[in-house]
Amino acid sequence: MHAIGVDIGGTKIAAGVVDDEGRILAKTRRDTEPDDAASIDAAIADVYAELSAQHKIGAIGLAAAGFVAADRSGVLFAPNIAWRDYPLRDRVAALIDERLEIVVENDANAAGWAEFRYGAAREVEDMLTLTIGTGLGGAIVSHGQLVRGFAGVAAEVGHMRVVPGGHYCGCGHEGCWEQYASGSALVRDAQAAVVAYPDRAARILELAGGEVDKIIGPHVTAAAEEGDALAIDLLAELGRWIGEGAASVAALLDPAMVVIGGGVAAAGDLLLTPARKGFADQLSARGHRPEAEIVVAAMGNDAGIVGAADLARI
Ligand code: BGC
Ligand code: NA
Ligand code: ZN
Repeated sequence: MHAIGVDIGGTKIAAGVVDDEGRILAKTRRDTEPDDAASIDAAIADVYAELSAQHKIGAIGLAAAGFVAADRSGVLFAPNIAWRDYPLRDRVAALIDERLEIVVENDANAAGWAEFRYGAAREVEDMLTLTIGTGLGGAIVSHGQLVRGFAGVAAEVGHMRVVPGGHYCGCGHEGCWEQYASGSALVRDAQAAVVAYPDRAARILELAGGEVDKIIGPHVTAAAEEGDALAIDLLAELGRWIGEGAASVAALLDPAMVVIGGGVAAAGDLLLTPARKGFADQLSARGHRPEAEIVVAAMGNDAGIVGAADLARI
């Protein structure tokens, strides 16, 4: 059965028709407004109309960046999108003529599931996937099962407190891991560096066209790849937060693999090497236990689409 997977980000949605083997047969995307939930519903209905014109579709999986209800009907809360107790499944169903299965899944769970089924973690039974973008998402597979928890919201690792009294988070608390290990944290720190160390930050600012609020993660990665010292430091700091936090997760879950996904993963070893070091530095019983491998995601930007479609068939 072919299913459509829709990856709903803050500012765009990406959708694809996915076959039983996890292959994407067709793809499309739309820009959306994170503050306007109805615009997201409409965009989903629109990509459905486009894709279903060419393919027979049996189910739709919606990967949403927020706390998803256990019955997969909608989003309870989202730190970075305007969803509060939002019945996403029914809102989308009301805009679609066909009667077909629609399920909502957490975006990171969808991406991690795709890595487990078809990607970097397909050889292991226990894994943690971290998706590093606007927020920090998590997916846990334990003994081959996606861990959903009691209310559906397990693996919200981005909201573990890593710094008492630290940066404010969209979830209402302070010091969440997401505020240190996300693309947003990277950009925040790059912007702060423009003020604090204008000389060191000159190249990053130049890549952003001279406008501090135009700095995005890829500018930092591009500068680091050229050898820019500040950009390398910023990625190393991000990597350290990722690795140290992953060591705490390992204390709880003992994964065989930690998969790093999201846009920032494009930085490769500039991020991975410090992440591996942070992990090793903080792992308890180190030297006396087998260690999780830390690897880059294999499914790239398609993970959310493939995983959401796959989970919609289950
Ligand atoms: C949200 C998660 C989401 C993650 C990545 C976090 O802020 O709480 O639900 O998976 O961002 O988008
Ligand atoms: Na998750
Ligand atoms: Zn938080």
